[in-house]
Amino acid sequence: MAMDRITTRAAWKGSEVDYRTEMMHRFTDGEVAEIDAALKACGERDIPEITPATFPLPTFAARLSALRGELLDGRGVVLMRGFPRDRYSPDEMARVYVGLGAHLGQPVAQSWQGQLLGSVIDISDVMEKVRGYNAGGGQHFHIDGSACDIVSLMCLRRALSGGASRIVSVSAIHNQLLDTRPDLLEVLYRGYYFRNHEMDAKYSLFPPQSADRIPVFTQKDGRLTAVIDSGSLRYAVQQGGVTMSDLEIEAYDELQRLARSEEYFLDMNFEEGDIQFLNNRVIMHARTNYEDDADVTKRRHLLRMWLRVDDWPARPPQQVFLSDADCSHWQAQNRRPFMELPSRYLAEMAAMQERRRREKTVLTPAATAGRAPSARGWHEDRDRAAG
Ligand SMILES: [Fe+2]
Repeated sequence: MAMDRITTRAAWKGSEVDYRTEMMHRFTDGEVAEIDAALKACGERDIPEITPATFPLPTFAARLSALRGELLDGRGVVLMRGFPRDRYSPDEMARVYVGLGAHLGQPVAQSWQGQLLGSVIDISDVMEKVRGYNAGGGQHFHIDGSACDIVSLMCLRRALSGGASRIVSVSAIHNQLLDTRPDLLEVLYRGYYFRNHEMDAKYSLFPPQSADRIPVFTQKDGRLTAVIDSGSLRYAVQQGGVTMSDLEIEAYDELQRLARSEEYFLDMNFEEGDIQFLNNRVIMHARTNYEDDADVTKRRHLLRMWLRVDDWPARPPQQVFLSDADCSHWQAQNRRPFMELPSRYLAEMAAMQERRRREKTVLTPAATAGRAPSARGWHEDRDRAAG
């Protein structure tokens, strides 16, 4: 296998890059006016009906296309800042966000629930068994599902404090491993078994566990493609009978250790209205710990989109674990019209929170661990459970 150094702008170190000068697009007044007109043209359409045709951007579309090029062949990160959040309702912001996203790619469902627009918010005291994006606290480094080429967030409401988006160039880490631990890099190119989250698997068209190892890294034509999802690896160990060798554990831990080092990661503090787009093939993301409001309607609230980009080179098939077919299936089975609109979503959560308070059944909030646990711990957990 080719383990060549990545020599493009995709390989950057957080300590050497200023995102405000290298990764940021600031909206001009003209662009805001154009988006405003598109929003009026779009009207009250539901999320799947928002397309480049129903959300027309006659001149800004070319700029968005250039930014998409920057995601594929540049730094892999674009932050759009300066949209006047306070002039728009949360639902209008959602439609603006999907409208811009639709010019970059095709929104796909993000879980078995079929949502095209996810709410990243702490509801762990309201709903049982929530996933990382619905719990508070930090999050460790990962790449989202392989059906997603561009992962994106829009900030509707900031935390009381903290909650920065922490990102890292996988290409830079790849190069560092090539220099210092090529033996571990080789292990990462061979990859790991993946196993689906319980509910995603229940609604999947495919077996819950990958038949083969999924390579963490592949490369073709000078471009790296990465997949790293601690959850899927951990499920495979804990529920799928997979054992990781000492070297495999060391390789996973070293990748996470490098991502956590100040030399490599970059923190972006979101302002309300900010939109972040990441190339989900080459950028790992995490988030720092944060302090939040007790009232669910006043909590840190980001909207998330997963975009598939059909005219990018296809992902290597051996790295596809979550497929487009599953995302379409989830959407067809479980999505309900307008369910993602923030006004509906928050009203539903607020009603549940109120009921739990009344009935005194408020759940203990599940803050996710900001630090990735060592892969060795996954085995220990399983052995404890078995013993
Ligand atoms: Fe994520």
